[in-house]
Amino acid sequence: LTARVSLHTRRTVGAISPLIFGGFAEHMGRCIYEGIYDPASPLADERGLRSDVMAALRETNYRIMRYPGGNFVSGYRWQDGIGPKAERPRRRALAWRSTETNQFGPHEFMDFARELGTEPMWAVNLGTGSIQDAADLVEYMNLPTGTHYSDLRAANGQREGYGVKYWCLGNEMDGPWQIGHLDAAAYADKAVEAAKLMRWTDPGIKTIACGSSNTAMDTFPSWDRTVLERAWEHIDYFSMHYYAGNPNMGEPKEQVDTDSYLASSVHFDEHVDTVAAAIRLAKAQRRSRKDVYLCWDEWNVWYRATGGDGEWAEAPHILEEVYNLEDALVVAQWLGTFLRKADVVKIACIAQIVNVIAPIMTRRDGMFRQTIFYPLTLFSRHAAGDSLDVLVDAPTHETRKFGEVPLLDVTASFDAPSGDGAVFLVNRSQGQAMQVTLNWEDVSPGSLTGAWQMSGRDPRAANSFEVPDAVTSRPIALPVLDGGKVTLLLPPLSFTVLTS
Ligand code: AHR
Repeated sequence: LTARVSLHTRRTVGAISPLIFGGFAEHMGRCIYEGIYDPASPLADERGLRSDVMAALRETNYRIMRYPGGNFVSGYRWQDGIGPKAERPRRRALAWRSTETNQFGPHEFMDFARELGTEPMWAVNLGTGSIQDAADLVEYMNLPTGTHYSDLRAANGQREGYGVKYWCLGNEMDGPWQIGHLDAAAYADKAVEAAKLMRWTDPGIKTIACGSSNTAMDTFPSWDRTVLERAWEHIDYFSMHYYAGNPNMGEPKEQVDTDSYLASSVHFDEHVDTVAAAIRLAKAQRRSRKDVYLCWDEWNVWYRATGGDGEWAEAPHILEEVYNLEDALVVAQWLGTFLRKADVVKIACIAQIVNVIAPIMTRRDGMFRQTIFYPLTLFSRHAAGDSLDVLVDAPTHETRKFGEVPLLDVTASFDAPSGDGAVFLVNRSQGQAMQVTLNWEDVSPGSLTGAWQMSGRDPRAANSFEVPDAVTSRPIALPVLDGGKVTLLLPPLSFTVLTS
């Protein structure tokens, strides 16, 4: 197979927001407890934060972190998580049938976020929570001392306001599974009232309204249209959620549709286009001059470990998905979608960051990096500046779900001030290598600075505590740059990054 890719530094899609490299930490399973925070681990620091986990999270370079849920937030009383730890109540967390000890709460999360150097993104409870609770939380987190909740924050050890800027107005309120689920109009009205109070409390905040929980919802995309139209003036971002999978894995070979799975970015691109169209429609309908951007604040592969019953345990082992090579290739394409749609997608958070459908998996004495850790980290470290509108001339193949799809998925970035560029390539072919020629049409890069590749023969190969490095990205020899052109050989089932 052969392909040609043309790049021009002034043919751009839009500025890449660094906030597309975000994570999500929910109070569920072993994400917070036994993941991030585990005072009983020999690897914990004096605050109970796992130092090995923190180091791996730093590698990923998360720029924003959504917290504390997820479905959990729709039953969460934030006041439970403040004050002396010994006095914090234990509660049943109904969303995941687990026991919440509240040993980790707002202050512990802010310490964690600061230590990571990541922007916090807080979800308020619009399930059982009132609009007053939401405004009180903004007061507690952000206001200078001199009011009831800001003084309480100071009494709990934090005098300065935290300045939390990004606020999600609830979580997946379209889902019948959500505590306090509402229909679109009722949710929009509650979100507007919450946003009003929250912004009156702190006019500097940005709000994010709930879009549909996934594209399979009967109410998609009418939910999105209704919420956008009704809440338009009160929101800055609109959320998208989606989880991808290759669900017939383990079935007879003919029923497994890996070709379609490996073409998942077709679905991701269409998903963005649909919600972006709803945004444009709402903007026109409201005769508005402001913009609302997309915040894809839950995305990942998730289809195997779906049982969410924690049987009332603390830190139950739920949603502990083990990722393989093909999942990593899908994650790489998803990040590619964020680049291709850089003009509208301005925040994205992989769900989640530790143990629960996550790039890293822990046990008390150690951790390993899952396959999806690598594309996430490579994109997050190297994609910056503008996303380029790349011209791709590649062979195609027929897929059951999406019809004819190119075998090559390519995205690229270029940061004019530094001159740094990066190209991200996925060869979707399960059996054939592809020789790709990259051609920089206007300015040739001065030099190539790095090349990494992930590939393997077995799409199901995965890492584990026993074999932590079965599937990783490895540096490869730098190809020769000749007159603004480079030729690369992409193995089947591979993800390659080239930086200049
Ligand atoms: O990330 C796991 C769960 O998936 C979240 O709690 C919820 O918002 C979604 O359904």
